[in-house]
Amino acid sequence: MSRPETPRTLAEFGSEAKRLDRTDPLRRFRRRFFTPPRTIYLDGNSLGLLSRDAASGLEGAVEAWKRLGIRGWLEADPPWFTLAERLGERCAALVGARSGEVVLSGTTTVDIHTLVHTFYRPEGRRTRIIADELDFPTDIYALKSVLRLRGLDPSENLVLVRSRDGLTLDEREIASFFDETTALVFLPSVLYRSGQLLDLALLAARAREKGIPIGFDCSHSVGAVPHEFDRWGVDFALWCSYKYLNGGPGSTAFLYVNAAHHAEEPALAGWFGSAKERQFDMALDFTPAPDAGRWQISSPSILSAAPLIGSLRIFEEAGIAAVRERSLRLTRFLMDMADALLADEPYGFTIGTPRQDGRRGGHVALIHPEGLRIAEALRARGVVPDFRPPDIIRIAPVALYNTFGELLTLVRHLREIVETKEYERCPAERRAIC
Ligand SMILES: Cc1ncc(COP(=O)(O)O)c(C=O)c1O
Repeated sequence: MSRPETPRTLAEFGSEAKRLDRTDPLRRFRRRFFTPPRTIYLDGNSLGLLSRDAASGLEGAVEAWKRLGIRGWLEADPPWFTLAERLGERCAALVGARSGEVVLSGTTTVDIHTLVHTFYRPEGRRTRIIADELDFPTDIYALKSVLRLRGLDPSENLVLVRSRDGLTLDEREIASFFDETTALVFLPSVLYRSGQLLDLALLAARAREKGIPIGFDCSHSVGAVPHEFDRWGVDFALWCSYKYLNGGPGSTAFLYVNAAHHAEEPALAGWFGSAKERQFDMALDFTPAPDAGRWQISSPSILSAAPLIGSLRIFEEAGIAAVRERSLRLTRFLMDMADALLADEPYGFTIGTPRQDGRRGGHVALIHPEGLRIAEALRARGVVPDFRPPDIIRIAPVALYNTFGELLTLVRHLREIVETKEYERCPAERRAIC
């Protein structure tokens, strides 16, 4: 339901968009980003845009490589040898973690493997992993692979909690599966299709009551939503840095391990998990770092991490609370417009994202039976959304660089595309990346 003061017409939304953009406390950050020419970019939940800050972080690393060669490991600014820890330290502020609990390492999926292998300790009847059927596929592939490597059958030991509407999950229902057969819970923070933000505090509390370790894939929330991992008692988490953190295509991921577990043996040990002062002893016995750093495996990809040196600065300046507030305002504005201007015939869009602010991540799922072709028609008009089968157009208005005016233009385009049936001229086949 729209609130009573909500504008109803395109013109009313237009004035509202102007007012909101004019008074926007974060608007100075948009200038820090490179926006593709003549494009409204609404796909920051897949790949965030490049900022000048991130570009200078990368250029700094290239320069250091040019000037210093191998000496860059110790003499670059910041030194490459401790870059993973330094960036982890800075990212910890975004997720409510203490010093030593967050480190930059590997990729999202590799981090799932190393952390799930570490925290999954089946014993007696306690062999099951609880996940959900709306998970991003790589999470499920990794969980099944962990089970198989332990000689266990995923069809018996992986419980995928069902969704009642195909879009959202009920946290209390998920928690009702936590029992004496559960060895581990691994869930997403925000569902990648609908954008539902799960109540991580509630889930962590319920898992703790039952003595079950719990971890989260926070790829769709870090950089858009504040987290309080320590306060909530989360055991472990991991997230990519190429979506809301704007680290660049395939940029290095982050992982979090609660300090209570820093004495655990990392499952996939590698020399970059060594205590720093011992790493170059070249001993054949592993001396792990005293903190989450021990879950690193390999040499960090410096060129894939360097953009974050600059990118995280923007969050430090803006503050994650302000980013969240503006993100909610943008997604709310879009949903209000969708209700007023895109729901009725002939438009026929529905919203797949929860309306309550506390249950929504950074994107809005617009559902339409012709979603695939409408998304294509938007691209042809210079608007970049993404599409997730069977019928979801995902729109991510990113707090640091999108505007209310852009959302208004998006809605104008959607109305015209449907009114004129322009989408019928677009191919009905999915592209390799959509
Ligand atoms: C929730 C989630 N996990 C993982 C990934 C991808 O994993 P990786 O970074 O290993 O490619 C994505 C990609 O969009 C994702 O949305």
